Amino acid sequence: MAQDLTLLLAFEDEALLARELAEALGLRLDFIRRHRFPDGELRLVLPKPLPEAVILLRGLQQPNEKMVELLIAAPAARELGARHVVLVTPYLAYMRQDIEFTPGEAVSQRHVARWLAQLFDRVITLDPHLHRIASLDEVMPPGVGIALSVAPVLGAWIARHVPGALLIGPDEESGQWVKEAALAGGLDHAVGRKLREGDHQVRLALPEVEVKGRAVVLLDDMASTGRTLIGSAEQLLARGAASVDVAVTHALFNGDALPLLKAAGVRHVWSSNAVPHESNAVSIVPLLVDAIRALG
Ligand code: R5P
Repeated sequence: MAQDLTLLLAFEDEALLARELAEALGLRLDFIRRHRFPDGELRLVLPKPLPEAVILLRGLQQPNEKMVELLIAAPAARELGARHVVLVTPYLAYMRQDIEFTPGEAVSQRHVARWLAQLFDRVITLDPHLHRIASLDEVMPPGVGIALSVAPVLGAWIARHVPGALLIGPDEESGQWVKEAALAGGLDHAVGRKLREGDHQVRLALPEVEVKGRAVVLLDDMASTGRTLIGSAEQLLARGAASVDVAVTHALFNGDALPLLKAAGVRHVWSSNAVPHESNAVSIVPLLVDAIRALG
């Protein structure tokens, strides 16, 4: 399929990443034009006709309306001539709701993943929040979902900017990313535990490692309200850390997350450009290029 891919489709609000990706892959880039009617409905206009195989780039930060875009754009692309449609969704939403936390609660991870696999031939994403499952194959037909990891790239970035840093993951699920980043950067690492008590309330038990005088970098797959990182930074600085920086794959930083993180004493905030944000420091494009070229 890779050799048939000639077109990257994207939305204007992700033009920066789309341009970088299209250029790196030598693909034509075209945009889906989008109009939001007064009642909230969406009108999408795709380029016509479409080649046999297309890539659609759409990150699912602030996901709900974008999911409607996908619901419409995928079958529309097929009607316009595409036989293979690959979704590149740098941030895959709804992955944290992975068990029935409350009786009757929908396990959104399963339903969203299955639904995307029905719309697209392949779904490529980065550091999806897989905690209680090991692979996207457990929630999509085998081979459809491709999960890449930015953690080694972040680890190398951290090692260059904070030599000898101690990497700390705030909770058990961050262990997978922290280990990969530490390995890539040749850094020490440790992982804590977290109990989420509400959207903005977390109880943190950071690891009992010596942080006094050390440059600590907190690493996680995402920051949403930022409360996980804010609470961690406050504790680490209170324990005598020389500095606390933050690195995440997905810079959601909703609401007051970023100013509160700064107010907590965090020095640098770095992220990948999986989600467009002022903190973007490392590019996901080389990872995407390799994965797209390897598509069978
Ligand atoms: C979940 O455990 C994730 O890995 C993040 O730690 C979490 O989503 C961050 O959320 P918030 O920024 O709202 O604390």
